[in-house]
Amino acid sequence: MSETILTEIDHGVGIITLNRAERHNAFDDVLIQDLSAALVQMDIDTDVRVVVISSTGKSFCAGADLNWMKRAAGYNAEETQRDALGLASMLRMLNEMKKPTVARVQGPAYGGGVGLVAACDIAIAAFDAQFALTEVRLGIIPAVISPYVIAAIGERKARRYMLTAERFSAAEAYRIGLVHEIVPGEAELDEAVGEIVDALLANGPKALGECKTLIKAVANRPISQEVVIDTAQRIARVRASDEGREGMAAFLEKRKPSWVK
Ligand code: COA
Repeated sequence: MSETILTEIDHGVGIITLNRAERHNAFDDVLIQDLSAALVQMDIDTDVRVVVISSTGKSFCAGADLNWMKRAAGYNAEETQRDALGLASMLRMLNEMKKPTVARVQGPAYGGGVGLVAACDIAIAAFDAQFALTEVRLGIIPAVISPYVIAAIGERKARRYMLTAERFSAAEAYRIGLVHEIVPGEAELDEAVGEIVDALLANGPKALGECKTLIKAVANRPISQEVVIDTAQRIARVRASDEGREGMAAFLEKRKPSWVK
C-alpha cells in the first residue's frame, strides 16, 4: 500500500505532502492519523523551522473521503464521535503548530481541503486552484472546519459559501482572504512558496512561535486593560530572552543573527 503522506526535511523546512492522488488527496482515517503524527513530529523536531503542506497530483485535497464518511455514518454514537474528532483534532493541531505553516495549493481544494488551507498561517495558490465548501450539497455540514474557515474569511463570506456550496476561483479566494497570494502555475507556486519560506527562515525561530501565540491571544478581543498589560508582559519577556538579545545585538552590530545561515 502506498504511503498516504510523504515527509521531507530540507534546510530547516519540513515538507508534508498529501499522497493519495488517486483519491484527490481526500482524508480518510489513515491519512488523518498519518498527517496528525507528521504534524506532531515536525513541531517537535528542532531541525524544522517552517512547515509546508503540499500535495501530489492534480488536486490539493478533495476534503473528507466520502467512502469513509459513509462508513462512519453507520457507526454507533460513541464510535462516530471518536471518528469525527480525529479530523477535528488534526485541524486543531495544524492551527496550533508552534512553527509557521504554509499551504501550497494547486487544483481543487474542497470541503476539508479548504479547512486545511484556512488552518495554515499562510496560503499560496496557483490560478488553477478551485475552492468549494460542498458539504451541504452532500447533505452534511462543514462542521469541524468551520472555526478555521470563518476565522479566515469572516462570517459574512462564510454564510455565502457554506450555504451555496458554490465553487469559487483562486482569484475569489484571494479576494476574500482565504489565500494570501495567487500565481500563474506550478513553477511560480514553488517560487512563491520559496520566497515566503526564506522570509520565515530569516526570523527568530522562538520569536515566530511567540508571535503566533500573540496573534491568537489578541485577535478579536477588545483592547481592554488586561490585553494591554498582557502585550506589555509579552514584549518584556521576549526582549529579555536569548533570542531577543541576539536579534537586537546583531542588528546594532551590523551582522547576521545566529539563526541565519
Ligand atoms: N471522497 C472519496 N472519493 C473521492 C473524493 C472524495 N472526497 N473526491 C474524489 N473522489 C474519487 C471519485 O469518486 C473518483 O473515484 P472512481 O475513480 O472510483 O470513480 C476518483 O476520486 C476521481 O474523481 P473524479 O470525480 O472522477 O475526478 P475529477 O477530476 O473529475 O474531479 C474532484 C475531481 C475533486 C473535483 C471531484 O472528484 C469532486 O468534486 N469530489 C468531491 C469533493 C468534495 O465535495 N469534497 C467534500 C467532502 S465533505
